[in-house]
Amino acid sequence: MSKTLNIGMIGYGFMGRAHSNAYANVNHYFDLPQKVVLKAVCARDREKAQAFADKWGYESVETDWKKLLERKDIDAVDICTPNNLHKEIAIAAAKAGKMILCEKPLAMNVAEGEEMCEAVEKAGVPNIVWYNYRRIPAVSFAKQLIDEGKLGRVFHYRANFLQDWTISADLPQGGAGLWRLDAAAAGSGVTGDLLAHCIDTAIWLNGKINDVTAMTETFIKERTHTATGKVEKVTIDDACLFLCRFANGSLAQFESTRYARGHKALYTFEINGEHASIKWDLHDLHRLQYFDHRDQGNLRGWRSIHVTDGDHPYMSKWWVPGLSIGYECGFVHQVADFVEGIASGKPAGPTFRDALETQKVCDAVLNSAKSGAWTKV
Ligand SMILES: NC(=O)c1ccc[n+]([C@@H]2O[C@H](COP(=O)([O-])OP(=O)(O)OC[C@H]3O[C@@H](n4cnc5c(N)ncnc54)[C@H](O)[C@@H]3O)[C@@H](O)[C@H]2O)c1
Repeated sequence: MSKTLNIGMIGYGFMGRAHSNAYANVNHYFDLPQKVVLKAVCARDREKAQAFADKWGYESVETDWKKLLERKDIDAVDICTPNNLHKEIAIAAAKAGKMILCEKPLAMNVAEGEEMCEAVEKAGVPNIVWYNYRRIPAVSFAKQLIDEGKLGRVFHYRANFLQDWTISADLPQGGAGLWRLDAAAAGSGVTGDLLAHCIDTAIWLNGKINDVTAMTETFIKERTHTATGKVEKVTIDDACLFLCRFANGSLAQFESTRYARGHKALYTFEINGEHASIKWDLHDLHRLQYFDHRDQGNLRGWRSIHVTDGDHPYMSKWWVPGLSIGYECGFVHQVADFVEGIASGKPAGPTFRDALETQKVCDAVLNSAKSGAWTKV
């Protein structure tokens, strides 16, 4: 096994920064069998890509992702581009024998996702999707409590992801920064962008989702398209609400919108079990709320657990108990787990195959919203 893991990252926007920070810092905090090297960043504008490389410490720059995949000195390719490019790049990277770290959602739809799974499995290359919220220590701790059976039988799962940044009708669709409003680049609106996170966490914590019933709405029907300059129909979902049943018999409700005035990234979930309940809120990400009915009656109540102790997931790698870490650390944890997974032969998830399950739920949700019927995943 090589002592280094050379990364070639494609796209340097929001996620490009979050991932670069993780690659640059992971070996400072985690003792890993390989040193992660920021080998190359790829973007179409050479000057901007060079400026990014200089700032973050990448050794080289490419302007064509196909050239990046041809390079012998790249071990792993990181796909941080808009969703419509994930499939083409991932399949080509698998054929080139590269390990792949791909941003979420895995693909534009299930059909694309299946092709991507087949490609990485045929090539036998390690692969992972950036559903980063799994690795926020409080969320990982929730998983630990559930797996230990602390909640007992689960009855309810509730998740929201609320934002408010697209309320203005003057906002165009398409192009840098606003590709999320263009279905041709994004695949869907809040379903693939925000609910996909909630669905990944939910499947991880509570198991398979069997069937869904959904409604979506596009509040602003037309927006100027950045590419054409013309007013065009908006085909993404601005808001999506769905109900579902899990295979374990629990019932769930999910809500996501970019029209909840006052909310910027309010990702919350709550799980109610027979013995205990847990609640988590991204705005307070280092805390896990826990209620246990088995506590002595007169002391029973919601505990707000500050997830910063050395025996909480990942926290022994950071500071001393009581000192919290941030959003960006979930990405550091994912890189650490990915590197350890390569060494141990036990791949860290979510793999492409795991992320395909989330894609299937997203597709079922969008189909149900169209048909108005309960839809099997
Ligand atoms: N895990 C998360 O929490 C999270 C958060 C935000 C975005 N995402 C996902 O990350 C991906 C990127 O989103 P973002 O917010 O970083 O977007 P962004 O618009 O900030 O960045 C996209 C980048 O892709 C580059 N790009 C576009 N076409 C390219 C091409 N042909 N070749 C090379 N580079 C190209 C752009 O120049 C830009 O640098 C999307 O799939 C998105 O869904 C995930």
